[in-house]
Amino acid sequence: MTETIADQPVMAVRGRDGEVRAFYNVCQHRGHELLKGRGKLKVGITCPYHASLYDFEGKLKTARMTDDAPDFRTSDFPLRRLPLVIADGLVFVNLDPDPHPFDDGCGSFGGTIRKHLEGIDGYQRVASLEYDIAADWKVVVDNSSEGYHIPIAHPRLSTLYDMSGGKPGHHDSLFNHFQNSGHASYVHMTLGEKEPYLGWTVWPKLCMLSLPGSRNLIALRMDPDGQGRCHERVDVYCEPDPGHSGNVDELLKLFAKIFNQEDIALVESVQRGLSSDGYDQGRYIADRAGSWFSESGLHVFHKWALEALGEIA
Ligand code: FES
Ligand SMILES: [Fe+2]
Repeated sequence: MTETIADQPVMAVRGRDGEVRAFYNVCQHRGHELLKGRGKLKVGITCPYHASLYDFEGKLKTARMTDDAPDFRTSDFPLRRLPLVIADGLVFVNLDPDPHPFDDGCGSFGGTIRKHLEGIDGYQRVASLEYDIAADWKVVVDNSSEGYHIPIAHPRLSTLYDMSGGKPGHHDSLFNHFQNSGHASYVHMTLGEKEPYLGWTVWPKLCMLSLPGSRNLIALRMDPDGQGRCHERVDVYCEPDPGHSGNVDELLKLFAKIFNQEDIALVESVQRGLSSDGYDQGRYIADRAGSWFSESGLHVFHKWALEALGEIA
């Protein structure tokens, strides 16, 4: 499986021993990228440039015409490994060679996934969408962190939620999770009783949600793209459900054509407002329950940002 994280080509490979390891997706000979996309490998990882062959543990096994190269040792050229954590089927790779342990701040994250999305290991990616947005990534995370705007700015989407339950979110020091219920008044999907509506914000810039109506996970990641701009990548994963395939089609339509477009218009407008001389800062609006339908999650995200900036201990 390959990915680009902060412009760095990265891959994760499951070895014959079952362990998943992450490496920079870069050949140690001339730097060609090794793998593309995702799939299964039989023999090992073969570089498409000069056919150096690495095993699934990142060891260089063979390099052509090196038998009589003086002092050439394959052991000098292993792939560069990266720290990797799997939390309930989600793979997290860290570009910091000496990262803080995942459990420091996200220890209970895994427990919030499979608890609601049992079949997560069998989910398939049904869409991968990309957006160039004229707003800072933090403005996009702000927007994803609160449900205060939902009844106003997402009138169609809001009929899918039960807005009456103001449950507080659960948060660890580096992620925030909320749970509410679906609402059968959304006419385009077949909804079961109390289907969950879930959301996560993981510091710094991973936002996820699961909408009622099908077993799904929608992951949004924002990469900075210059001042006041970001690139958003959205991956939509669903449990194969032939019985309710219409729900998946509707989910994609609702998210890609309506919901996310509405949010992009909001954050681009906010970015213009933040750049204006006519704005400084506003109040947080949080109800006493600290529910997600207030701005309590936004407040949590701002605390993380201020901690990262060293402005609060
Ligand atoms: S760059 Fe990979 S074998 Fe040459
Ligand atoms: Fe929104």
